[in-house]
Amino acid sequence: MADLSSRYLGMNLKNPLVASASPLSKELDSARHLEDAGAAAIVMYSLWEEDLLAEERQYERFMHHQALGHGEADSFLPSQPNFQSTLDQYLEQLQSLKAHLEIPVIASLNGVSEEGWTGYGRDLQEAGADALEVNVYYVAADPEETAADVERRYLDVMAHLEDAVSIPVSVKLSPQFSSPLHFARHLYQAGADAVVIFNRFYQSDIDLDTLSVEPQLQLSDPYEALLRVRWAAILRGALDVDIAVTGGFHNADDAIKALLVGANAVQLCSVLLKQGPAAVTGILQEIERWLDDKEYESVTQMQGSLSHRNAADSAAFERESYRAVLDSFTPPPGVRY
Ligand SMILES: Cc1cc2nc3c(=O)[nH]c(=O)nc-3n(C[C@H](O)[C@H](O)[C@H](O)COP(=O)(O)O)c2cc1C
Repeated sequence: MADLSSRYLGMNLKNPLVASASPLSKELDSARHLEDAGAAAIVMYSLWEEDLLAEERQYERFMHHQALGHGEADSFLPSQPNFQSTLDQYLEQLQSLKAHLEIPVIASLNGVSEEGWTGYGRDLQEAGADALEVNVYYVAADPEETAADVERRYLDVMAHLEDAVSIPVSVKLSPQFSSPLHFARHLYQAGADAVVIFNRFYQSDIDLDTLSVEPQLQLSDPYEALLRVRWAAILRGALDVDIAVTGGFHNADDAIKALLVGANAVQLCSVLLKQGPAAVTGILQEIERWLDDKEYESVTQMQGSLSHRNAADSAAFERESYRAVLDSFTPPPGVRY
């Protein structure tokens, strides 16, 4: 039986399948189900910059009013013994996951401004997080902001986190960078131990009756995986940074493709939300069967063998394949143009 273990973020994972950030980490029971089903690590749902900063402001206001109050009235101010901030709740959940699970727990911070919240990374580290994933889900909608400004935002976040924590840090990226490889290299130089490719941008829809714009959540489709596979191949060919893929991985075939091009970890979310944690077991069994059929002794042996650098036809990941793909189109049967 092939050895499924994979190195990711300085950890020796028992296999490459990681439960990505989702509500499944909010309950200890569902996290336990993920572990029992075979997930090798779990990324927690995110702690949001917006919540952290709002609570900071609220706390400052509270302290300010207390400072202005009359001395004898201070003792009447509610001490709020039962108030639990979002941070407190998150740390409590992190500690509980760490206490009850054997697998590594990766905490997740989600924010876009360069400072003021990244210091919370230290709290997550102190609460026992094995690593930190930072998600800079940024929609560049300011015409004054250059591509370099957007990249600088990510790099500053990374630099602040690098100062704040000593545990490994991964950065979850959007697919919309002009030169992802160049940018990933800068993130690596700024201290990122891994890149997680790619965030899915959730699209707003327009309600044609009310003419209102409404955010909607659509789970992913497997066809989205191939974008990640291509970029994992290109990144692996050029950089030593760890790579996790996320977005559209629903089955063993796509997970195997990601590993072949050099991913260290394959993150699963939609498939778990659709089918439940047991989906991990089926995917793992199929990966194992495939490795045995192909006579690989381990995941490590096949990892990266089809990266951009190693693939016999590396041009297939680049422009060369573009025309051939377009030319390969044939009309569906019965359709006339
Ligand atoms: C309901 C839901 C909640 C999510 N919550 C988070 C989150 O808190 N932080 C984060 O970085 N990503 C979050 N994600 C994104 C997932 O971690 C994952 O990157 C994305 O869904 C793509 O993977 P998939 O195709 O396997 O679903 C969430 C996704 C869903 C569907």
